[in-house]
Amino acid sequence: MSIVIVVGTRPEIIKMAPVIKELEKRGAEFIFIHTGQHYDYEMSKIFVEELALPQPNESFALENTNPAAQIGEMMIKLEKALESYRSRKPRIMLIQGDTNSMLAAGLTALKLGMRIGHVEAGLRSYDWRMPEEHNRRMIDHVSHYLFAPTELAKKNLIEEHVWGEIFVTGNTVIDAIDMYFDKVKEVEARVMEQIRFDEYALVTFHRAENVDNPQTLRDFVRILKKSPIPIVFPIHPRTRKRLQEFGLWNEVENIQHLQILPPQGYFEFLALMKNCKVIMTDSGGLQEEATHPKIRKPVLVLRTSTERPEAVIHGFARVVGTNPVVVLAELEKILSENPKLPEQSPFGDGKAAIRIADITMSRLET
Ligand code: UD1
Ligand code: UDP
Repeated sequence: MSIVIVVGTRPEIIKMAPVIKELEKRGAEFIFIHTGQHYDYEMSKIFVEELALPQPNESFALENTNPAAQIGEMMIKLEKALESYRSRKPRIMLIQGDTNSMLAAGLTALKLGMRIGHVEAGLRSYDWRMPEEHNRRMIDHVSHYLFAPTELAKKNLIEEHVWGEIFVTGNTVIDAIDMYFDKVKEVEARVMEQIRFDEYALVTFHRAENVDNPQTLRDFVRILKKSPIPIVFPIHPRTRKRLQEFGLWNEVENIQHLQILPPQGYFEFLALMKNCKVIMTDSGGLQEEATHPKIRKPVLVLRTSTERPEAVIHGFARVVGTNPVVVLAELEKILSENPKLPEQSPFGDGKAAIRIADITMSRLET
């Protein structure tokens, strides 16, 4: 019997890395597939290399970019690939999070009669504009094993009457920082040498409901322009594309107190997080990473909701929306307050991957 691990985007490679490493350590047999949703070197392969993961057994080159066609294409390719591994008896598929790749993988596993283990199950933003909210709801309802990172996530799953088994494991993103933090120290001096400012806010945004909306994107540019603190801005390819499309790129490039960077490697990015004053983001993973004891940074969430309320409850994050007046006021406030943050992360103790591997392996032969 073998396990199938599917990834497709940057955060999935990072968050599945501790599980892959743990399964490798135990000599478990697994088939590793990359759907090709993220395809640029700096959005995909760099993480396989940096995190010393095995080369995927299969990596697809996708032709479609529209969501439905892309999901369909991924399903067709996954089914074909899994059929070709039939002799290895693929039994449980592990997927992580809420991207289109994970929906495609989950539905394919379901149709092939495999069991699904969903890592990071039970997150809910209750914002139906988000494709991630559609995906995570559907995935949770077809999963046999739901690896909820927190008690709150478990509660969401119970309220929705999912039929799979629920386990609270912690989030593997915490394990990943524990595992790779020594590497961060190795790159830190080199990374910080290229940063033009002593103090800065680290900013990322890429959510479709933000950057695909020209008005919201213009509001974000206003925030960047008027920021009272210099900004380091590792830019997601979707965001770069939209800024160019909506004629905002030159404006951003000309902001003197802003440094644009290409998408960063994981160690490089953690070094930027570790050294910043504050984070402004609409990323999911960053809201979690900011709470790790080795990072501990305040976060302004540039959204109207979050599926990670634990970061807010524990005082790390504030959901500030996208209105420049409000965001800039909150930024001023946080810079003057210099808030004292908790010593511990609400997202786990760094042993999530061990728990997930224990459960997966114990179910494999059943
Ligand atoms: C996807 C996920 C999102 C996740 C994010 C992580 C969905 C619905 N969205 O968003 O939940 O937070 O990944 O980063 O699955 N592009 C490139 N090079 C790449 C990848 C993307 O240029 O390597 C550009 C392409 O123009 C592409 C666009 O970015 O059309 C959007 O990519 P896509 O994978 O559809 O969504 P993300 O915004 O990356
Ligand atoms: N990240 C990275 N380089 C970057 C930006 C982010 O390695 O330039 C990492 C970050 O540390 C986190 C993950 O990518 O682990 C978050 O990815 P993203 O924000 O794209 O997706 P989300 O978490 O919102 O799904």
